[in-house]
This record gives sequence, C-alpha cells and structure tokens, in this order.
Amino acid sequence: MAYDTLTVSKLTGGCGAEVHGLDLASDLSNRQWDELRHVFFDHGVIFFRDQQLTPEQHIAFARRWGTIDVNKFFVPVPGYPEIAEVRKEKEQKTNIGGGWHTDHSYDAEPAMGSILLAREVPEEGGDTLFSNMYLAYDALSDGLKQTLGSLRAIHSSEHVFGAKSVRSNAERPKRNEHLAVGEVSHPVVITHPDSGKKALYVNSGFTLRFEGWTADESRPLLEMLYRHAVRPEFTCRFRWRAGSIAFWDNRCTWHYAANDYHGHDRLMHRITVAGSKLS
Ligand code: SIN
Repeated sequence: MAYDTLTVSKLTGGCGAEVHGLDLASDLSNRQWDELRHVFFDHGVIFFRDQQLTPEQHIAFARRWGTIDVNKFFVPVPGYPEIAEVRKEKEQKTNIGGGWHTDHSYDAEPAMGSILLAREVPEEGGDTLFSNMYLAYDALSDGLKQTLGSLRAIHSSEHVFGAKSVRSNAERPKRNEHLAVGEVSHPVVITHPDSGKKALYVNSGFTLRFEGWTADESRPLLEMLYRHAVRPEFTCRFRWRAGSIAFWDNRCTWHYAANDYHGHDRLMHRITVAGSKLS
C-alpha cells in the first residue's frame, strides 16, 4: 500500500515494516497519525530508527494509541511506572521474552500493543523475531480452521510470573508474584478488532490448554500450532540499534527475543498499550 506522508519499507513478506524519516518527538500531522495507524494494522509490527525519545515522549507516543496498560510483573523504570524495563546484564544468562509469545494474553482484556525502545544494545546479537498470526491462520487447512474456530484456550501468567513459576531461580527480580493467579479464556481464533481479519490466538508462553480439554489432550495440537506458526515465511527479524523502536500488535503477532549476547548488557524500555476483550 502507498502512503502519502510516510515512507515505508517492508522487512520481509511475512511481517514488519520500517517507517523512515519520522521524528516521533516532533508534532506529527493528523494525516501522518492516520497513515501510521494504517501502516501498523497493515504490517503487524512497525519499526523506527534513531529516535531520541525521553521517557515522557515515549509515554506521549504510547498515549496516542490508547491507555497505557501498566505491567504488574516487570521492574519499572525509576520514576516512570508506565515504562517496564526489559534488561539483561552481562552476568545474566536468561533474558526476558526468550521464547515465542504475545504480551499479556493472560489478561481478560489483553494488551493491544507493545512499544519497545532500545536504550542500550550489544554490538552483536539481541535481535527480536516476529511472526504473523494472520498468515499462520490463513495457511491452515479448512478442516483445522473449522475445528479451531469452535475452540477457546486457557491462558495464565502463573507459571511465568507466579511464586512457583519456572523462573523461581531466575536472575531477574520478581515483582507482584501474588497477582499472577487465575486463568482466562480467549477464542483460539480471534477476529482482530481493528482489521476484521482472523488470527491464531494461542502462544507457547501463556496458553495452558484448550478449554474443556486436559493439558495432555491439548499438547499435541498446541505443539503442532506452535511449530506451524513460526514458519520462516511468516516471520521477520529486527536488528536493534540504540534509539530503535519496535511497536507490535499483540493480537496478530508473536515475538521472540534472541538470547545470544552473553557477557553484554541490553536495556530496553517497554510500554504496553491496553486492549479489549477478544472475540
Ligand atoms: C518482550 O518480550 O517484550 C521483550 C522483547 C525484546 O526484548 O526484544
């Protein structure tokens, strides 16, 4: 699609587009905001380079897209509860987001999007990969689409952020473990509230099982979907520089933070924009 006020280039045929020549700290025209919305909904994840945003400007950019959904479990940037730190220090082995997932699917009203701003990045490594859940859904057989269309899945944060989570020995500080309780249910195939397109909405980070099925019964089909959903032709990979921004739509993409830069620091600031109940 051509845009009048923006220069946009796709990263791959799978997902992702870079928006060139825009300074997000400046006042954008209504036409530019309007086109930016289209780019976002057309490509699932959009990227910007060389943005010198203060935390206040990062917050102001996020508020243009909706209410900020303050993350309960990540350590906030000092003085800015709206901004979560995504940090890995040189002596740490584990990273945040080092598995395919979509943010906040454990919430009854999952986050619409996440805006990740690179503050400090390693010279090599630390890329983020994205995958397109519209394409993943479209590539399924009609028979499986029909089956999945009648199913809901159970999601939770407890096994990731809760007191007994697999991270209990992890190097990262835990926060609000007591809030990581309970389960929510979402359709396995959602109709995206803005694009009207169907997307696969389960993920290996937070989905536990299909509603009404046991975890054992669910596992083979979920694992098949997880393998299918990251076929290379659905994905893109973003190489960060300090000042780069990725803004992804949590309803129609997954992401994965590569953990291949041991011995180096990486610090990102993330703001999550609130979403709505999915159907
Ligand atoms: C995340 O999963 O939100 C973090 C992604 C990244 O650090 O690249």
